[in-house]
Amino acid sequence: MGGEELKFIHDAFESNYIAPLGPQVDAFEREFAERVGIPYTVALSSGTAAMHLALKSLGVGPGDEVFASTLTFIGSVSPIIFQSASPVFIDADRSTWNMDPNLLADELKLSSTKGNLPKAVIPTDLYGQCADYDQIQKICDSYNIPIIIDAAESLGARYKNRSAGLAGRASIFSFNGNKIITTSGGGMLASNNKELIDYARKLSQQARENLICYEHTEIGYNYRMSNILAGIGRGQLRVLNERVKRKRYIFEYYKNSLGNVSGIEFMPEASYGKSNRWLTVILIIPQKFGVDSEFVRLALEIENIESRPVWKPMHLQPVFKGCRCIGGIVAEDLFSRGLCLPSGTAMSESDLNRIVNVILNCKQ
Ligand SMILES: Cc1ncc(COP(=O)(O)O)c(C=O)c1O
Repeated sequence: MGGEELKFIHDAFESNYIAPLGPQVDAFEREFAERVGIPYTVALSSGTAAMHLALKSLGVGPGDEVFASTLTFIGSVSPIIFQSASPVFIDADRSTWNMDPNLLADELKLSSTKGNLPKAVIPTDLYGQCADYDQIQKICDSYNIPIIIDAAESLGARYKNRSAGLAGRASIFSFNGNKIITTSGGGMLASNNKELIDYARKLSQQARENLICYEHTEIGYNYRMSNILAGIGRGQLRVLNERVKRKRYIFEYYKNSLGNVSGIEFMPEASYGKSNRWLTVILIIPQKFGVDSEFVRLALEIENIESRPVWKPMHLQPVFKGCRCIGGIVAEDLFSRGLCLPSGTAMSESDLNRIVNVILNCKQ
């Protein structure tokens, strides 16, 4: 925590708004909108809920296809299934690890000739690095397909001179416990389009009509963020810049310590932006390092240090068996050789040094 969270929680108690709405929620939405530069926002119970409402607000439904990054976390794409639509996965670009714009362009061209264009495209900003927003926008604009940016991992990063998430028709953010800032669990849907956010807000409150009696003309969800958690979010927003600085420092520390080791490569930073380095991710090339990433993970685990493989690509997930994937080799390769290193901003230099030494000791 950053320090001011308890003050806002105290305000929530004082006002007795212990509810999934209230002044903290309103203020969090406003302050978040100002920070990111997207005018309309709705605070929700999770990033997954935000993605679900984004898809529903764009009218995604049964029989539709939605194109999405294959190298992502399942919360990015499970809402496509909630809407009884079908995901089509797009491989990653090796230079950014994000959705490959060329593959996207080729597949859209093909879909267009078949008269079967997707209803939306979801590029994920992987591990804190923005997808190539302008390129993807240009491609999608020629077919008039809306983009939902999955910025769950990239809050605080930059794309050219803009904030992460400031692109497409809407973007989603996550405040899950592991994210760069957290509300323990929570999410935000943001858009330049007021109608989209108004409708998502209504859906998040059981689609209750604006009448004094409880009237419903469609089915909604209970997806609102609690007033208490929004208080945590307000405190966290105030330390976002510091968090990004520290995350980038942690990346640099690892890079300075391991960057020259044969068989270790670091996730590249795209020339168009500045990653928040949410997680420091390395590739271990067994032919050069002597052992593979799983060996290193287990060596860290013995020392009670948690590391994780890169996200298992969605097209390899049993639950998505039978779904189409355009390409896939890059994501599979990053999955098989990638390792997410401990990246918590509370780690000390001696923690980092200990991790580095365990990794160096694995080299053969
Ligand atoms: C890329 C990505 N998309 C979506 C989500 C879903 O967010 P949440 O856990 O808040 O539902 C997460 C993280 O959890 C994520 O990393």
